[in-house]
Amino acid sequence: MQFATALLAFAATVSTVAANTVTFWTLDDATRTIIFTPSAGHAEIESITVNHKKNTTVTFPEGYIGNYYAVQEGATAAPGMLGEVTFNGWNGLTYFDVSAIVNPADHDNVKQMWPASALEPMSGCEVFPCNNAYYLPDDVQTKVTEEVDLISTLGVGSAYPN
Ligand SMILES: *[C@@H]1O[C@H](CO)[C@@H](O)[C@H](O)[C@H]1NC(C)=O
Repeated sequence: MQFATALLAFAATVSTVAANTVTFWTLDDATRTIIFTPSAGHAEIESITVNHKKNTTVTFPEGYIGNYYAVQEGATAAPGMLGEVTFNGWNGLTYFDVSAIVNPADHDNVKQMWPASALEPMSGCEVFPCNNAYYLPDDVQTKVTEEVDLISTLGVGSAYPN
């Protein structure tokens, strides 16, 4: 009994400190740098380089709000299609969306995002433009999940498992 209670307490502790992550899954042959832009007051995250040889998981601090975009090797670094995240947000939930608000012409970099286990809701599209991304300030396109691990696809290809 005592043991079970201790285990439960341990499980509760673990779930509150579970890391927030985004795993970047590259679908084509391009190498990309992922550049993170925190909202004011949130921690900087170092840029990373990713490609299809492996998935790369980035850990985000508790309560992080910000976005990221991807720049292909050789291209000029400029914000494009964004992956927007809020971890441990309102009600403790994770909010995310693929946003075309800065550069809707960036069609082959950040593509789709979804929670790693449930796989839904999904934001973004395999082919842009589409109606499952955030284009205008009044779009109601932000997705929400209880999960703290997201998948984010990059590049040309088909990946969404549904
Ligand atoms: C990346 O993750 C996806 C989804 O889990 C998986 O299907 C794919 O095989 C992984 N790619 C690599 C290179 O491990």
